[in-house]
Amino acid sequence: MHTPFIVALDFPSKQEVERFLRPFAGTPLFVKVGMELYYQEGPSIVAFLKEQGHAVFLDLKLHDIPNTVKQAMKGLARVGADLVNVHAAGGRRMMEAAIEGLDAGTPSGRMRPRCIAVTQLTSMDERMLHEELWISRPLAETVGHYAVLAKDSGLDGVVCSAKEAALIKERCGASFLAVTPGIRFADDAAHDQVRVVTPKSARELGADYIVIGRSITRAADPLGAYARLQHEWNGGERE
Ligand code: C5P
Repeated sequence: MHTPFIVALDFPSKQEVERFLRPFAGTPLFVKVGMELYYQEGPSIVAFLKEQGHAVFLDLKLHDIPNTVKQAMKGLARVGADLVNVHAAGGRRMMEAAIEGLDAGTPSGRMRPRCIAVTQLTSMDERMLHEELWISRPLAETVGHYAVLAKDSGLDGVVCSAKEAALIKERCGASFLAVTPGIRFADDAAHDQVRVVTPKSARELGADYIVIGRSITRAADPLGAYARLQHEWNGGERE
């Protein structure tokens, strides 16, 4: 499905999204709508993006009791998202309920949105895990375990670092999706991302989809940056 490049629309309003997308008119993108934009604009932002021909990853990271997640997912499937996510920490029953909700909400004749799990947030570190959450296993072990749990619950993949993609594929199978943020061009600033990889490395490491925000959205020439992304993903060197 879709292009492997998910452009994170981390903007506070539809107006700014429209301004950013203007040069891309006629180019169908795969875009990510996160909490900031969705909570401002509501479901109509998804409908708007779909009307423009874009695929939408709705990055709302659901985490609640199973029935609430099921009903919420039913609605998100109706809204037309192509990809959604949950926190694996919600447990097996919650993840199964997410899939049930998506199945129930998908209009007939359409494919159900794919659903991936967040294992551990990249803002989580070993100390927080042990001292704040009282989880005694090493962080990396919990990531692998949560990925297997997501797979066993019927999910389609996980959000992870490209550096974890090989491990995830080894444990969950080649078709289990690795959707990887933390992507930067070689000459970019990392900003607040700790572990960054280039588009080319992400592909070599086994990422199925890369999530890229500021390297495109804050580029002086977003269209040119997007073309560079395609070029480098396909193995090309910088011209
Ligand atoms: O601007 P940048 O390329 O860092 O944006 C990455 C996007 O991916 C942001 O929307 C960020 O919230 C999201 N994300 C992430 N790391 C995760 C999960 C999501 O950077 N583990």
